Amino acid sequence: MELRGFLLLHCWAAVTAAPGHFWHITDLHLDPGYSTSSDPLKVCPSAGDRPVQDAGKWGNYLCDSPWILINSSVYAMKEILPNPDFIIWTGDDTPHVPNERLGETAVLQIVQNLTNLLLEVFPGIQVYPALGNHDFHPKSQLPAQNNTIYRNISEFWQPWLNTESIATLQNCAFYSQQLVDKNFAGRVIVLNTNLYYDSNNQTGSLEDPGGQFAWLEQQLNYAANTGDMVYIVGHVPPGVFEKKRSKPWFRPNFNKRYVEIIQQHSEVIAGQFFGHHHTDSFRMFYNSAGSPVSSMFIAPGITPWKTTLPGVSNGANNPGIRVFDYDRGTLEVKDMVTYYLNLTYSNLEAPRWEKEYRLTEAFQVPDGSVKSMQAVLDKISTNKCYLQKAIVEGAARYHREMLRLHTLQQARAAQRTPHWEPYGL
Ligand SMILES: *[C@@H]1O[C@H](CO)[C@@H](O)[C@H](O)[C@H]1NC(C)=O
Ligand SMILES: *[C@@H]1O[C@H](CO)[C@@H](O)[C@H](O)[C@H]1NC(C)=O
Ligand SMILES: *[C@@H]1O[C@H](CO)[C@@H](O)[C@H](O)[C@H]1NC(C)=O
Ligand SMILES: *[C@@H]1O[C@H](CO)[C@@H](O)[C@H](O)[C@H]1NC(C)=O
Ligand SMILES: *[C@@H]1O[C@H](CO)[C@@H](O)[C@H](O)[C@H]1NC(C)=O
Ligand SMILES: *[C@@H]1O[C@H](CO)[C@@H](O)[C@H](O)[C@H]1NC(C)=O
Repeated sequence: MELRGFLLLHCWAAVTAAPGHFWHITDLHLDPGYSTSSDPLKVCPSAGDRPVQDAGKWGNYLCDSPWILINSSVYAMKEILPNPDFIIWTGDDTPHVPNERLGETAVLQIVQNLTNLLLEVFPGIQVYPALGNHDFHPKSQLPAQNNTIYRNISEFWQPWLNTESIATLQNCAFYSQQLVDKNFAGRVIVLNTNLYYDSNNQTGSLEDPGGQFAWLEQQLNYAANTGDMVYIVGHVPPGVFEKKRSKPWFRPNFNKRYVEIIQQHSEVIAGQFFGHHHTDSFRMFYNSAGSPVSSMFIAPGITPWKTTLPGVSNGANNPGIRVFDYDRGTLEVKDMVTYYLNLTYSNLEAPRWEKEYRLTEAFQVPDGSVKSMQAVLDKISTNKCYLQKAIVEGAARYHREMLRLHTLQQARAAQRTPHWEPYGL
């Protein structure tokens, strides 16, 4: 019996040590109205009243994604890594247009369209989708209760979710699910952090919208008891926008609670994966003694759309997609490779997805662990070359030259934090 136990344990350890890979894609923002019209005001509804000159077939920096750009991104994923263990898809599917131009039906059609694309290109592959603030009508007003949009989306996502996930998705758009294969000691917790967004008027007065914080703590306690490590996935991240440090996303009370939960349960959290910024960035979480305890990876968006957020200059990016290498046994992030499409080149020649950078190569760290991400942060805080690299890669090589100093300082400070108090905000 002893020997048998030993052998089983041995086999299991061997299986779990195998390296795995998964995709993270975010902010696809399809603009179904995109066309290559020669009238600068008729190219794409998402440009608003900004004139778009020389609209190319694959998209424009002032516009959200044309369908063929999204199609190209998903087929590029298929070509680069056709059999990922799973795909994390952190939302924001619809274009940046006024609510009057969308409506419930249009929003649902777009979410269904992108869901179908992933199902067609990656049949049988597990996807963990999250809702973004644009995946609702009116935008950002996601409520803390059961409604038609959550219900209809839960039907689209049925191929990927179990019964329990479908129920919590219908009620409040969050869920928790065992990681694909039972051999993997892991769990993915998908949050609806749109409930904490300061643009959401439905939830601002609630203490714990949808009971999500209490549920999250319960999930993390459960993981600690069963020995599972956890990935936390969501759309709107806590902290501030690195391109505009005075812009936090969560309401202050929600930000505080979120950070406290991460601090308290960091030993079971192997990584946090978010979107919303459209920029490639990361955040560090520290314990009360000031030691780093968790990192959040913010993936670049697929939409190249230049933000209209006041005070942000040059807020466009090249489309980006990202693969993570991770340890299937511990869920530790081993590496991360980001690919991008040079939109200018693609419109002139042909679409081309290229490797942008590999974390361990670009920043000379052994892996993507919390310790290594702290080392990356220290490097970009003290070394201009690394900082420039971080900024250039941040927008998927959209910016070629160094930004102005104050922007650099903002980028540096923003990284340090989900806590914004130290910056006097
Ligand atoms: C989607 O991309 C694939 C692979 O490049 C291509 O074969 C297909 O024609 C594309 N579909 C559309 C509608 O662009
Ligand atoms: C939501 O789904 C129901 C049932 O499938 C359908 O009847 C309804 O039209 C859908 N609502 C919208 C707005 O698409
Ligand atoms: C998604 O919508 C586009 C038009 O915007 C259409 O061409 C395409 O076929 C649709 N794809 C799927 C998978 O539904
Ligand atoms: C959400 O509401 C619908 C319609 O009232 C109901 O059929 C469904 O069971 C509810 N979902 C959950 C998980 O309670
Ligand atoms: C939310 O509330 C703010 C402040 O009261 C208001 O200006 C805004 O129009 C509201 N937005 C929506 C979508 O209701
Ligand atoms: C993108 O392509 C354009 C046109 O070929 C080129 O001028 C530019 O240098 C490229 N950018 C990068 C980062 O390679």
